[in-house]
Amino acid sequence: AAMHHMGGMNGHDHGTMHDAAATGCEAITEKAGNEPVREYYLTAAQHENKLDNGQTELVWTFNGLTPGPEIRVTEGERLRIVLKNTDIKEGVTIHWHGIILPCSQDGVAGVTQEAVKPGEQFTYEFIADHPGTYWYHSHQASSVQVEKGLLGKLIVEPLKKRSEYEQEETLLIQQLNGTWLMNGSTKGVTIQASPGSTVRLRMVNAANETETISVNGAAYRIIAMDGHDLREPGVLENVQFQIAAGQRYDLLLQMPQEGKVIVANDSGLRAVLGAGSDPKSRSDYSLFDWTNYGAPDPLAPVGNLIIDKSFTLELGQTLFVKSINGKSFHEIPPIVVKEGERVKLTIINNGGGDHPFHLHGHVFQVLSRNGRPLTGSPIILDTLATQEGEFYEVYVKADNPGLWMMHCHNLRHSSMGMSMMFNYE
Ligand code: C2O
Ligand code: CU
Repeated sequence: AAMHHMGGMNGHDHGTMHDAAATGCEAITEKAGNEPVREYYLTAAQHENKLDNGQTELVWTFNGLTPGPEIRVTEGERLRIVLKNTDIKEGVTIHWHGIILPCSQDGVAGVTQEAVKPGEQFTYEFIADHPGTYWYHSHQASSVQVEKGLLGKLIVEPLKKRSEYEQEETLLIQQLNGTWLMNGSTKGVTIQASPGSTVRLRMVNAANETETISVNGAAYRIIAMDGHDLREPGVLENVQFQIAAGQRYDLLLQMPQEGKVIVANDSGLRAVLGAGSDPKSRSDYSLFDWTNYGAPDPLAPVGNLIIDKSFTLELGQTLFVKSINGKSFHEIPPIVVKEGERVKLTIINNGGGDHPFHLHGHVFQVLSRNGRPLTGSPIILDTLATQEGEFYEVYVKADNPGLWMMHCHNLRHSSMGMSMMFNYE
């Protein structure tokens, strides 16, 4: 029903009529093969939710829940999700954050589809071909709808089960109308884990703020960022890491023979694993640096990558407007590429806070930070954490034709203008 041409910009996530009319990507789909299909039904509706701090909130939910149901699929399967909207007046879409898919399934209102209005439905279909930790969220007026609760976890399991852990858990952090939640709880979660066992923790930051996460009671490794495995990740102890809005970090930790492990963010949310006594609280953490973590790939040196096109994006603030290269929204000329081009983006944070920069439909490899080439594992991301004064170079292979958004994943910044397009000619 919701598959017409674009309406105006009202409430949409920033495709302009002009962008949409220029190409549109409704026609870019993937023909069904004979891969297995996994089907989910997600119904968006308003809901009175009683939080576990006693507060009652009017929230927006998928199937009555925020976070919505966890979607799990195995690498190579076709995911079919039927989205229905009961009573969210300005309409709803679902964006599959971090998943590489055909443009028509990307779920951006005003760009790849019209928002699904009350009483309507829309079916998304794509093959989940890269295992990892992802999430989904509405992309209609997303700064409002994500805070109100329209989001959930999306896990693509590897085809071959990995043997290095016995148990896995996903921790999603969100700010629901301003209240911090971990997996829907204001207090956090308790996880049973046997002494000596190895646990994979998939962490998703669905809030607008950068989170500083500490792990106390066990050493750990960071085995993936944004769904992409790191090469030869080393053991970290007394190290905190920062996870920017939209990003995912996967950890592997071994439970101690005795006592608990506590994974906490800086807003008081905790995941408590295991039983027994608490680890001693500590304050002597150092900060994780992903630019020199793990081992480089000798078969894929980045030093001699060929670049066909380069663009510079200055993320900043002019008066109260968040801007890219001094402009905002549709005033920002889109990046235009041709299929097959190798593109370098220089991303500069000129102020106005942290800007976690997200590109739809692609991943990129980080080449350098503040002029220094990365020396560790290749870092492949869909959302780049940037702080004031920093600059990064990233490499994107233009291999997924369509119209794609690029924006700050502090969705408040995005709604204040830090949002543009990455289009194919
Ligand atoms: Cu998770 Cu355009 O966003
Ligand atoms: Cu920002």
